Amino acid sequence: MMPPQVADSEFVGSESCAQCHEGITRDFHTASHALLQAKGRNASDMGCESCHGPGSKHNESGGAARTIINPKKSPDVCFQCHLDLKGQFSLPSHHPVIEGKVSCTDCHNPHKGRAVPGGVQSLLSDNQQCQQCHQAQRGPFVFEHEASREGCLTCHRPHGSVNPRMLTERNQTLCLKCHFQQQTASGQILIGGRDHVPLLSRGTCWSSGCHEAVHGSQVNSSLRF
Ligand code: HEC
Ligand code: HEC
Ligand code: HEC
Ligand code: HEC
Ligand code: HEC
Ligand code: HEC
Ligand code: HEC
Repeated sequence: MMPPQVADSEFVGSESCAQCHEGITRDFHTASHALLQAKGRNASDMGCESCHGPGSKHNESGGAARTIINPKKSPDVCFQCHLDLKGQFSLPSHHPVIEGKVSCTDCHNPHKGRAVPGGVQSLLSDNQQCQQCHQAQRGPFVFEHEASREGCLTCHRPHGSVNPRMLTERNQTLCLKCHFQQQTASGQILIGGRDHVPLLSRGTCWSSGCHEAVHGSQVNSSLRF
């Protein structure tokens, strides 16, 4: 794990940033990255500098331009330590982070609270975070799909997936986690009390005119449209 580097600059610790960036520093102790420890010199505290690089030149110059790294919307700094995630954002279906249309900080606050949304200190629930950008999935719906209460991540991966639409599963397995199927002696496959034998060959549960309004429906209790 290597933080970004700044030529001729040394690590000075997060405390030193407080005098000029009070707002950001105030709540930083609640952030996931506040606990990071550096290796080597100045090993005690790498908090701010784990993403912004060593700050001695920046501090001495009173915050002169180009003395510190600002990751802005680029994921490159994050990938320095979270390299394993780069693969997730290259899967066939993914949030366009490498393409620059969505950024890590749209979903992870680097300065405050648990970086993973929905943590105790997060202001937004998982669903609200996703729904900020995906309003069509927000409802309210006349016929809600109770599955959504369990959160978007019941069915979607947040970074990327080999399955279309970043789904956790590509077929009816996704739905059968909660909806049990029951095989009868006469060869029927009952799901929700209805024989699905002629239906399951048509495609996924959410395609082929079956339950296409999988997030909720305004008109149909079986989530058909
Ligand atoms: C002596 C005051 C001072 C100290 C100490 C200081 N900064 Fe700054 N910093 C500034 C000023 C002034 C700016 C430029 C104006 C602004 O964006 O607020 C700045 C800008 C920045 C930026 C944005 C740079 C850009 O190019 O957009 C970052 C990131 C930053 N500081 C991080 C830090 C970190 C991390 C520390 C502690 C290691 C730190 N600063 C310590 C004064 C300071
Ligand atoms: C997990 C990585 C990470 C850590 C740790 C981190 N930052 Fe940042 N910081 C960022 C990113 C990413 C941005 C750009 C955010 C954006 O533009 O959406 C940023 C932006 C900034 C800025 C410039 C923009 C602004 O909001 O004024 C300052 C100043 C800053 N950080 C200071 C700090 C200080 C001080 C600390 C420690 C108390 C710190 N950062 C810790 C990732 C980090
Ligand atoms: C200097 C290395 C380093 C950098 C740079 C870095 N991280 Fe981390 N990050 C870590 C470590 C170490 C952990 C804790 C171990 C773990 O859970 O993998 C962590 C944990 C996290 C977590 C999980 C937190 C939790 O509460 O479970 C998220 C989310 C995260 N980082 C996002 C980011 C983002 C976004 C950036 C870029 C703005 C970034 N990181 C930059 C090292 C880094
Ligand atoms: C669309 C929102 C979104 C974006 C964009 C996003 N994440 Fe995440 N990330 C999440 C969610 C939600 C979780 C929690 C996953 C869980 O609980 O299963 C998570 C989990 C994590 C974790 C901890 C678990 C793990 O997989 O290691 C890290 C680290 C992380 N993200 C880093 C990043 C980095 C780095 C970026 C940018 C390159 C990024 N994320 C972009 C939503 C996002
Ligand atoms: C900052 C805005 C933003 C946030 C927050 C966000 N997304 Fe996205 N999402 C996007 C964008 C942009 C796309 C790509 C749309 C496109 O390519 O047409 C996308 C695409 C998707 C897709 C469709 C992928 C495909 O193959 O068509 C799914 C599913 C998705 N997001 C789920 C989620 C979930 C779940 C969350 C919460 C963990 C979330 N999104 C949070 C912006 C966001
Ligand atoms: C019960 C499982 C399930 C849950 C929970 C779920 N989704 Fe989906 N989502 C799907 C399926 C299945 C598709 C594929 C629909 C298709 O291809 O027609 C999909 C597609 C999407 C798409 C792509 C656009 C579209 O409508 O086809 C987005 C964006 C999306 N979901 C966002 C979300 C968000 C945000 C949440 C949480 C509020 C969420 N989903 C909860 C199953 C789910
Ligand atoms: C996290 C659990 C969960 C998952 C995953 C899930 N559902 Fe549901 N679903 C429910 C619950 C709970 C209800 C409401 C109780 C009931 O009718 O069984 C429901 C209701 C429904 C209904 C309405 C039944 C009626 O009353 O007519 C349909 C249709 C449905 N789900 C389809 C799907 C499809 C299609 C998928 C896969 C994309 C899916 N569900 C995935 C939990 C889930």
